[in-house]
Amino acid sequence: MAEQQVVADLRENCATPASLLRDVAAAMADEMCAGLEKEGGSRVKMLLSYVDKLPTGREEGLFYGLDLGGTNFRVLKVQLGGNDKHVISRESRELAIPPHLMSGSSSELFGFIASELAKFVADEEQGTSLSNGKTRELGFTFSFPVRQRSVASGTLVKWTKAFSIEDAVGKDVVAELQTAMQKQGLDMHVAALINDAVGTLAGARYYDEDVVAGVIFGTGTNAAYVEKANAIPKWEGELPNSGEMVINMEWGNFYSCHLPVTEYDQSLDNESLNPGEQASLFYSLPVLAVEHWLNCILWFFQIYEKLTSGMYLGEIVRRVLLKLSLQSSIFGEIDRTKLKTHFHLRTPHISAMHHDNTPDLKIVEEKLKEILEIAGTSLETRKMLVEICDIVTRRAARLAAAGLAGILKKLGRDGSVDKRRSVIAIDGGLFEHYAKFSKCLEATLIELLGEESSKFVVVKHADDGSGIGAALIAASQSQYRNVE
Ligand code: BGC
Repeated sequence: MAEQQVVADLRENCATPASLLRDVAAAMADEMCAGLEKEGGSRVKMLLSYVDKLPTGREEGLFYGLDLGGTNFRVLKVQLGGNDKHVISRESRELAIPPHLMSGSSSELFGFIASELAKFVADEEQGTSLSNGKTRELGFTFSFPVRQRSVASGTLVKWTKAFSIEDAVGKDVVAELQTAMQKQGLDMHVAALINDAVGTLAGARYYDEDVVAGVIFGTGTNAAYVEKANAIPKWEGELPNSGEMVINMEWGNFYSCHLPVTEYDQSLDNESLNPGEQASLFYSLPVLAVEHWLNCILWFFQIYEKLTSGMYLGEIVRRVLLKLSLQSSIFGEIDRTKLKTHFHLRTPHISAMHHDNTPDLKIVEEKLKEILEIAGTSLETRKMLVEICDIVTRRAARLAAAGLAGILKKLGRDGSVDKRRSVIAIDGGLFEHYAKFSKCLEATLIELLGEESSKFVVVKHADDGSGIGAALIAASQSQYRNVE
């Protein structure tokens, strides 16, 4: 039957046997080296973060944080105790970014953020000056690819996820924020600009010195880790005293011919806000072997992210369901308006259906009706739906684990050389809330490393690394740090 064929093809095209994952891990490790070798050496950008030392627990004082990276942004105030007293207090406020600002102008976005930050500061301080005459200091977590020249400046390379504000590309995002804060009359200095993966690494290292990498599986995905300064040939500046540098990998743009990319992923990439550069040019060409390979490389942008992160999993499932509805009659006569709407089925919806434990799959039934206006499905159809969620999410989790194995391999911490405890701190809604994703990721990592070697590797959920991490790095870069 047509519907069974669609699912069988999906199963086959999304397959991730261990041998394929080992190839992906090896390719990730190779791309990491290529990206460190020279600027533009790999699609994995391996950006220098200019964070050359991670928190020690001695950081002290009051710091603000700003976290921008998804559909919400957060402002926070953190009091650090110093001398291993860690975080004494923290206050935060989370706000939605009005959708029109995600594709408007840079000054509108930063103007909005600065005005909300000014309100937060005013409410928190309520007329009292908490800063003792000093300028307030802020750590800015900006979770998009940024090319940095120092720890407190960086130009936006390209937007990812749901943002596309053309006039911000190529601009220094710290200068944009600083100007917007001045317009609000807010006396605040941006002491550090960091990525959320770097923040996760810093936040987790603050509590556990064995943390070697910070990873995000949320709306988007990324990883950061500590590299030896002398293993970064593309670095032209003076080597830091610490001999180390945190690298913001920007691995969302990783590509390898081993990645199981299906027709659904190709069309998703092509129709996304950030398609592969040459997509429209090559899209209609016949797919011949060499041409296909070349096109793949040119086509995709952020393809690893599009296969493994929360913004896209629901959308992939929606595309499969649309095909099912067009090629078979399992949904009966339906109005396809919702089913045809991009991003209408979101990852939390597929997570709810995937975790449905009711004997007759009541939750699947409800979600199909509520979100896609598909009613009266048979139990068999609902089971098929769970299987589709499973295929798409398992592929994501297994590829995610292969990425982690790639980092461990590059660091020699995959059990082959270095037998020290290695902790990978992971943050992000997909990892935190989609249990079948996180369980499958952890099990796959053990499968790839082997029982023996995986005893040295710990995968840990890092809560709110990006917020605390920004404040911690601001503290270590504070202009007042040697004054007291
Ligand atoms: C961005 C990264 C970010 C990741 C997770 C990706 O789309 O390019 O900079 O770290 O999402 O938020």
